[in-house]
Amino acid sequence: MSDARPGTGPGTTAEQPPLLVVLFGATGDLARRKLFPALFDLRRRGLLGPDFAVIGSGRHSPGSDDDFRGIVADAVHSSLGDKAADEDVREFVRRVGFVPASAENGDDLAAAVAERGAALGEGCRTLVYLSVPPESMPDMLRMVERTGISDGACLMIEKPFGEDVQSARALNGVLLDIVPEERIFRIDHFLCKEAVRNLLTLRRANGWPTALWNAKHVAWVQIDVPEEIDSQGRAAFLEATGTFRDMVPTHLFQITGQVAMEPPSDDSPEAARAARLRLFRDMRVLDPKETVFGQYDGYREEDGVADDSTRETFAALRVWIDNPRWDGVPFLLRTGKALGSSDAAVTVGFRPAVDGTEEEDGAGADGSEARSGGEFVAGLDDPRDVRLGLDVARPGPGAGTVHVELRADGHDEAAGGPDAEPMDAYGHVFLNAFRGDHTLFTTGEEVERLWEIATPVLDDPPTSLPYPKGSFGPEEANELPGARGWRIPEE
Ligand code: BG6
Repeated sequence: MSDARPGTGPGTTAEQPPLLVVLFGATGDLARRKLFPALFDLRRRGLLGPDFAVIGSGRHSPGSDDDFRGIVADAVHSSLGDKAADEDVREFVRRVGFVPASAENGDDLAAAVAERGAALGEGCRTLVYLSVPPESMPDMLRMVERTGISDGACLMIEKPFGEDVQSARALNGVLLDIVPEERIFRIDHFLCKEAVRNLLTLRRANGWPTALWNAKHVAWVQIDVPEEIDSQGRAAFLEATGTFRDMVPTHLFQITGQVAMEPPSDDSPEAARAARLRLFRDMRVLDPKETVFGQYDGYREEDGVADDSTRETFAALRVWIDNPRWDGVPFLLRTGKALGSSDAAVTVGFRPAVDGTEEEDGAGADGSEARSGGEFVAGLDDPRDVRLGLDVARPGPGAGTVHVELRADGHDEAAGGPDAEPMDAYGHVFLNAFRGDHTLFTTGEEVERLWEIATPVLDDPPTSLPYPKGSFGPEEANELPGARGWRIPEE
């Protein structure tokens, strides 16, 4: 495997302990698009110590170590472009190797981990990252335990964490049998997106949102994660998992948590995790009657998809939170593939003002009134993408109001200084795990509760209704927000 010698590289910090990352699923789509680019980016920023190596693993070898390094280098270049200087990429990939392993046989991998760890030096920390399908996860974990790879190591578990309450509970049992909770990092990378973290920061750092963030002032909340991409060669995954399982009890519920939770009592990981769990306990279990599934036209013709597949590629739903802060406020969630935009955003719709000349006609229980009370929009791709929709007096001789939008300048690279270059969610996933900070990782209890909320829909899913590619899902989804309709991204 890797012939890299520990030593200094670009932007390294000598005080950091040696670090070995073992990456299962290293030839997969996620590793190529996100994981290797994120690791390279951390190194480029000087956030990894000098003694650092990656052992990629998976069932099938991609060829020699050099072949694998070529794949990794291409992935880094195509993801980071100009930020990936040739020389730095060469230095990075010298630290990368590949050793095949499976749930049945991990002996070669265990030997490589022991050897590499010893070469990296005393105090080497090992992080084992598992991105494998939920049905294979328990057996992989048992292999990791049997071969000693997990001895002293931290385990990073990629979503989906199980497929329902029972399998999540069983997986938590296996994990805790192998390592203690403080060495487990359950990943939901949306929690690590800077814009998602910003949802809570905005409330804590500014007075006015805090004052308005409740059912008295908020009529509805929309959490919209549309994706223009279709299955993109992941049809087999989509067919097995479905968009609901893939996105809703995971990413969309976590965004809901960041919008709706009570601000944690302090900055500790325990306080953040407890605040999320409290909110999820107040979230009502779903009603399949308030859920719409869709399937884009042409999905059934894709490789790996049954001709009569009923699998959903779109889900929209109404969620309720039964606590005093959110009593009666509908949370409208929507996500899907092959939609008309990828502009993911949270929109908070305020109740109309009462000016004394008209009856209060604020939102009904379903928040469906057409009259606007102004909106706050936070884009989910960049924490600086925040917008405020306001009605202002129409200029000129006419009466009435016009709707305007105040926008932060999302492209002001200088804002925040040179250290404020945005970092991808997976950079934060790795960095937080390296630092042992659990704030943005889920607990076993949290994941089990999220599956519990989803159970009625998993048990009794609605029929998947057809929708054209490039649309915003089936017409029937428009019934969820009522007369107001979904807020559609403008660009
Ligand atoms: C993944 C889902 O967890 O998140 C994918 O499995 C989805 O289906 C992806 O496309 C979206 O993440 P991002 O970071 O590209 O917004």
